Amino acid sequence: MTDVVADLSDYNKAAIELAAGLTTLRTTRRASQNEDPSLDDLLPANHRVAAGVRDEWQRMGERHVSEALEARAEAHGLSFEHLAQTIGTVIHGVRLADDLSDALIAFIRDALLERKVIFFRDQHLTEDQQVTFGRRFGQLDAFPFGRPGANPFILEINHGPKSPGLENGWHTDVTWMEQPSLGSIAQCVVVPPTGGDTLFADSYAALAGLPSAVREQIDQLHGVNDYRVFVHGEPDEIVEQFKERIPFGVSHPLVRTHPETGIEALYIHGSFLRHDSLHDPATGEALEPKASRKLVATLLQQHTRPEYHCRFRWTEGSMAFWDNRAAQHYAASDYFPHRRVLRRVTVSGDRPTR
Ligand SMILES: [Fe+2]
Repeated sequence: MTDVVADLSDYNKAAIELAAGLTTLRTTRRASQNEDPSLDDLLPANHRVAAGVRDEWQRMGERHVSEALEARAEAHGLSFEHLAQTIGTVIHGVRLADDLSDALIAFIRDALLERKVIFFRDQHLTEDQQVTFGRRFGQLDAFPFGRPGANPFILEINHGPKSPGLENGWHTDVTWMEQPSLGSIAQCVVVPPTGGDTLFADSYAALAGLPSAVREQIDQLHGVNDYRVFVHGEPDEIVEQFKERIPFGVSHPLVRTHPETGIEALYIHGSFLRHDSLHDPATGEALEPKASRKLVATLLQQHTRPEYHCRFRWTEGSMAFWDNRAAQHYAASDYFPHRRVLRRVTVSGDRPTR
């Protein structure tokens, strides 16, 4: 050791010698105790990020998709490209413009339920074809605050030199609705030369990974959501027209039980939720505004953890179908002043329940 460190700086000599001593000490101690650290030691209650991924992976049977789904993919001549451990899969081999069989639609729906977000490349659907595909999964919800495409169920998300992308906050879509959309289906029609990826986060793993005390605290809590950010600064009479026809201020649980899978997810939207509104609807008790805001700030950190993410690089004609009940998303606004255009339809959902 002395020869090796002879020419090194004092800092590096100290670092190398201390590391050797500490490793010897720990190895000796572990041997004398004759045990490895427990999982509880490695994943303490107040830092459970990796545990969230592990818990969700175990719930999934330690497989990216179930054996049954794998077999159905093979029967349809399709293949999977998984982007992360618990979330996100590209499905290869299908042309969504075709007249798809009910069995294939059921397969796509089940793949969505298992992987939370699924992707398809090289589809190049027209607006009407995209609407037709979306309708195979239920009714669609038009979007009252954005510029519709030629088809009123298409929302065009169009950014360029005069319009930097603003979808760069972690969120699940339209929690201001009493019955927020089940899922969203987006197609990229103009891709910037670099950047413009969308990231997705696993809301099941995000809930499982919360510190135990926080998880217990939010179990029965609801928050009030509204669309004030979309009508801010508009004339009063316009705002009143919206409020008369679309409920303003709806209460949703922070822990949402997925209506199809039965799995619990962290369900929160930082821009639509009133941060001081957390309350228990069963008891009527509300948190103090300061405590409510503090808890919301903690919860909003959860989906930002890269451990829960997958990331999708768009190409023109690529499509993403995400489950708003099981995942959040974030459109990286890193391509300004270039153009990026997506077209989206949203499939109607139901009222979130605990
Ligand atoms: Fe969104």
